[in-house]
Amino acid sequence: MTLSSKHIITMDDLTPDDITHILDTAESFAEISQRRIKKLPTLRGRTVVNLFLEPSTRTRTSFEIAAKRLSADGINFSASASATVKGESLRDTAATLAAMACDLVVIRHKYAGSPRMLMDVMDCSIVNGGDGMHQHPTQALLDLYTMRQRLGRLEGLTVGIVGDISHSRVAGSLIPALRMVGARPIVIAPATLLPARPDVLGAEVAYDLDEVLGELDVAYMLRIQMERADGMPFPSVREYARFYGMNSARLGRLPAKSIVMHPGPMNRGVEISQDVADSDRSLVLEQVESGVAVRMAIMYLLLGGADSGAAA
Ligand code: NCD
Repeated sequence: MTLSSKHIITMDDLTPDDITHILDTAESFAEISQRRIKKLPTLRGRTVVNLFLEPSTRTRTSFEIAAKRLSADGINFSASASATVKGESLRDTAATLAAMACDLVVIRHKYAGSPRMLMDVMDCSIVNGGDGMHQHPTQALLDLYTMRQRLGRLEGLTVGIVGDISHSRVAGSLIPALRMVGARPIVIAPATLLPARPDVLGAEVAYDLDEVLGELDVAYMLRIQMERADGMPFPSVREYARFYGMNSARLGRLPAKSIVMHPGPMNRGVEISQDVADSDRSLVLEQVESGVAVRMAIMYLLLGGADSGAAA
């Protein structure tokens, strides 16, 4: 079985069955990363282009490693090393790449909608690696995978997404993803970090973290995106940490089996305290680890999966 769409631009490109299929496939790939020789011949001869035109550490390296573990030929573009610094438009860069016959492009770009634009210019599969403040679907998938591994299920989980909702492409994908698998997302933030109409998010809204702590299976902390904020959205970083930061006192008030997650990069001492970030209730590194398996699954399924003739 392959996926219902050739592209993953937003969560709308996937069905709940696609999500389950990606997570199950990722589970079978996770074991590869534990082997001494971490490579399968599955995508030999296929070309994956990583077009990262905005800074990224974990997403970029995770896609690169995933491509290598499946033996695809990976080509990596970064903003500073490509012709975009000479003023080339994204459309021209895409047309150039299309002329080189690649099979899959992963794009990260500061403008929302840029992955969709590539679809008009290129025939290959497009995966959104994060577009502006819009969506980051592979992050949502690796988060679901991490939750399912640790908590054993997704349906019925209550997930509090805490912090900078209005600038977050991570929230933009995670909220619909959670709804698709039957979980209950709650966004928790001061009004200045929520969109003007939080009711359209598709999540419950809470303004007081302490009030809902006891209900959460997952506390998903977001980074304050100062680079995207227009002025200071709260009186001080200290005050933000006091009301919305995850610290050991709050960790103690979460239900015993609940976990803390963060997509990274973390601002330690702001949305998450040093001790919580390093505690065994925090799954930050598990999320990174899941990222490789989930992205391997995505590449494998988009590029033909079991129908490509190569078995996992
Ligand atoms: C996020 C991103 O870049 O969208 N990080 C990530 O991909 N792991 C979140 C962030 O920058 O805060």
